[in-house]
Amino acid sequence: MSPLTNDVPGTTPHELPSLGVVLVAAGRGERLGAGAPKAFVELRGRALLEFGIGVVTSLPHLGHLVVVAPESHAAQALDIVEQVLPAASSWEVSVVPGGRERHESVRFGLNALPDSVETVLVHDAARPFASAALFERVITEVRRTGDAVVPALPVVDTLKRVDPEGIVHETVDRAPLVAVQTPQGFVRETLAAAHATAQLQHEGGLPTDDAEVVQRAGAKVRTVPGEQRAHKLTTPADLAILEHFLTANLLGLEAEA
Ligand code: C5P
Repeated sequence: MSPLTNDVPGTTPHELPSLGVVLVAAGRGERLGAGAPKAFVELRGRALLEFGIGVVTSLPHLGHLVVVAPESHAAQALDIVEQVLPAASSWEVSVVPGGRERHESVRFGLNALPDSVETVLVHDAARPFASAALFERVITEVRRTGDAVVPALPVVDTLKRVDPEGIVHETVDRAPLVAVQTPQGFVRETLAAAHATAQLQHEGGLPTDDAEVVQRAGAKVRTVPGEQRAHKLTTPADLAILEHFLTANLLGLEAEA
């Protein structure tokens, strides 16, 4: 994989950033079947990635955002950064190519962060409408506790355990279960060390989120309240849900917490 890092000119603030965000946008989006990587699917003419870059760079922090994009779309990602980033931003932005699996993309993103970064958030570009308030909630809790922090929502449906034929065997108690989202926040060293461990490939399959990566390395993971609007694009049906949140954004409506 090419080590290319494209820094957007004119975005370096005077002080060093202590907050890093890795925005993973390198998934192929096969379950969606849209013919474009998920983060580059458009809603009303704007790529999902554009919304994610917009919310991150609106946060009032000295920060460094790494956009991890498919190598084939790195130039398009840079174009989007240039369109979205205000001239006098407190954010530096770079674009790096992703890996075959999500955890590889995260590792490439972490490697591109400057040494000054102490707190890191990892966010799915496929969740374009996660709010600035959610980012702040996660950042505050990481800095307060030093633990890994994930947004979580209660599970509302009744859950059943089924076999491969779809036959129900039992109802699962949902009280202790939550659905987790991104942005997920970490002390940078904790996440970088966990991603560097070799056990990743072997224990219990590939990790599907970063909380799992640090938990396997022994770190504590705590939750903060998630939000419906941080919904992830996975299948075509999700596009209608995201349209709803885009409309709410455009109308300036406060979506529910
Ligand atoms: O496919 P999934 O829904 O798990 O993807 C979550 C996020 O991870 C998406 O934003 C996707 O672009 C990103 N991803 C990535 N590199 C991969 C796989 C997924 O950046 N190899």
